[in-house]
Amino acid sequence: MINPPRRQDSDGSGGPPETAADWHRIFEPMLKEQDYEVDEIEGRLPPDLIGTLYRNGPGQWETGTGRAPLQHVFDGDGMLSEYTLTGRRLRYRNRYVRTPQYLAGLKNRGITLRGGGTQRPGGPLANAFRFPANAANTNVVLHPERLLMLWEAGRPYELDPDTLKTLGEHDFQGELPWPRTFSAHPKFDPESGELFNFGMELLPWPSIRCYRIDPWGQLTQFHRLRIPRLVFNHDFGLTPRHMVFVLDPIVPDLPRIALGLNSIDRLMHFRRELGTRFILVPRDGGRVRQVEHEALMHFHINNAWEEGPDTVVELLRWDEDWDQLNGTLREFRTTESRTVGGRLWRYRIGADGRVSGAPCCEHVGELPQHDRRRTGTVTDFSYYAAKLANGRAAVVKVDHGLLKSQTHELPPDHVVGEPIFVPRHTRAAEDDGWLLAVAYDPAKHRSRLMILDAREPSRAPLAQAQLRHHVPQDLHGMFTSRITRSLPGE
Ligand SMILES: [Fe+2]
Repeated sequence: MINPPRRQDSDGSGGPPETAADWHRIFEPMLKEQDYEVDEIEGRLPPDLIGTLYRNGPGQWETGTGRAPLQHVFDGDGMLSEYTLTGRRLRYRNRYVRTPQYLAGLKNRGITLRGGGTQRPGGPLANAFRFPANAANTNVVLHPERLLMLWEAGRPYELDPDTLKTLGEHDFQGELPWPRTFSAHPKFDPESGELFNFGMELLPWPSIRCYRIDPWGQLTQFHRLRIPRLVFNHDFGLTPRHMVFVLDPIVPDLPRIALGLNSIDRLMHFRRELGTRFILVPRDGGRVRQVEHEALMHFHINNAWEEGPDTVVELLRWDEDWDQLNGTLREFRTTESRTVGGRLWRYRIGADGRVSGAPCCEHVGELPQHDRRRTGTVTDFSYYAAKLANGRAAVVKVDHGLLKSQTHELPPDHVVGEPIFVPRHTRAAEDDGWLLAVAYDPAKHRSRLMILDAREPSRAPLAQAQLRHHVPQDLHGMFTSRITRSLPGE
């Protein structure tokens, strides 16, 4: 989503306008499944950076032998990219998730399944009463040794963490029966070792199911919250006492969706008059608190924590609302839109029932991250992928203590993804580690893994590992100290 506009004017040197490399090529598919050791590395891989970076995102936005185009950037088939770092070497592997949509695409001529933004050919009759196909394309989590590919309107897909073979939809030993959902942004509690998540549900009444998964992988539902209406909600915050929800008024037109009258994304509307609702669900029982607020638009919550009786939640707030933004998401192959994200804000939910907020940084971006050892704790540093005022893509680090930011600015026309913070060692200070981000160079049509010093990200990367190919625009990922047990080429 963090795409610079195409450059069409002079670079200021007085010479003729440069021919801009076309960053839209990041939406070209990567059909081949690969496994190789990366041999083009600039700089030096940090010897003590050992583990695996997992990334998930669509790997292709076409389906079938005729390569029928899918109509929305969020509809592409989920593909895992695995970057294994051993201190001296880097191995890259990618695998598609064998979802019904992916498998149908291998043998059929066109679009056979309804997506979140793609309709089946044949009009309303061909789409009525059909759930969107699970694309397994949004995020990936390893917990405890279970590798799950996530998509918010369905259940996760489990992959074998060594072979990356698709094992199928995962239902947590029957605790997540169809059609329950498991959102794409679970949060790991660094104190308890539990994973928390939620699922939005429509029937028999609109609700949010709240889940905890213990350190051994057993899921239990600990709360089911009834809400006035179903809304699109992508993320939540986790504090030591609460799950924090920020429900924006992105409201699906359920009767028209059910009748298949249009694609689901086009039948969701931002209803500003309904406002946004902040909700605190206690993790260990007790009263749920809800506070009404003016309407906001966000996708991602970076972190949340408690300060005395107050709760603070940090999120990326967009100026555009869903109805303004969705056209850009549909026209991702050609858009020149400057819409690239929001600004980082912190909101305080007071014990007095009031909510107040303030921005933290002027740079516009998306895909916020923090040191995940501090989930639920006040953080001094936030990171995200931005588009600077000069049109360049950048990794941004916000220093909340000093009220300033640093940027790692990429060359023209590049695209950069979510920056993942990795601590130098388990007891390192919050800022002491690396930022891992995948950058795309449209002139070479190749991607590279950048390793930045998180203390000084504006400096040249410590290392850049050039892949042999591009990686289609990915979304989210994580780092783990686990390393696959299989050998290259197996
Ligand atoms: Fe997300």
